Amino acid sequence: MTTALMDGIARVVISEAEIARRVRELGREISADYRAGAAKDPRGRPLLVVGILKGAMPFMADLVRAMDIPLEYDFMAVSSYGNGTSPGEVRILKDLDCAIGRRDVLVVEDIVDTGHTLQHILAGLSARGPASLRVCTLLDKPHRREVEVPVDYVGFVLPENLFVVGYGLDYAEVYRNLPFVGVLKPEYIRDA
Ligand code: IMP
Repeated sequence: MTTALMDGIARVVISEAEIARRVRELGREISADYRAGAAKDPRGRPLLVVGILKGAMPFMADLVRAMDIPLEYDFMAVSSYGNGTSPGEVRILKDLDCAIGRRDVLVVEDIVDTGHTLQHILAGLSARGPASLRVCTLLDKPHRREVEVPVDYVGFVLPENLFVVGYGLDYAEVYRNLPFVGVLKPEYIRDA
């Protein structure tokens, strides 16, 4: 890790060790649920884990390796214009490579904030007729929700006023490679 990268960090909110512990727990819980009947695919095909780029990449990589059931994975990329011209407008930049009709699908997100991004993703995926559709997010800000979205597995709940970076989460595309989740020093936020 470069000194310059750490320079912007005010404090660690969730440490590398805490993340690793929670990801192992989630992997075990999700695997047990699908073994116990969460899987509904009439043809018995493996669970399809769908990572939402770019933020979910590190979490997804660790989570699938903490799962001990057969699975496939694929990725979608979306962009959201949260506070821009059209609040809640979400665009799909990269769609799935595979069909999901009558398959079990688990969407993996980095963070659920207002819920607009996830709502859009889930609406699009449901329309393709999966056998089941669940969501796992590393971080959740439930108090900031503007639309109701079902979230089945949550790593950590954050207070609403905290903007975090690291472990996939960015500020202006930087800090995704930090191994922990932290907050930036105010002087490193351009419009602070
Ligand atoms: P939502 O549509 O408001 O739920 O926003 C979800 C997206 O906003 C996430 O995928 C992130 O890209 C971004 N986001 C929300 N909160 C944070 C944060 O604390 N740090 C970094 N990105 C965030």
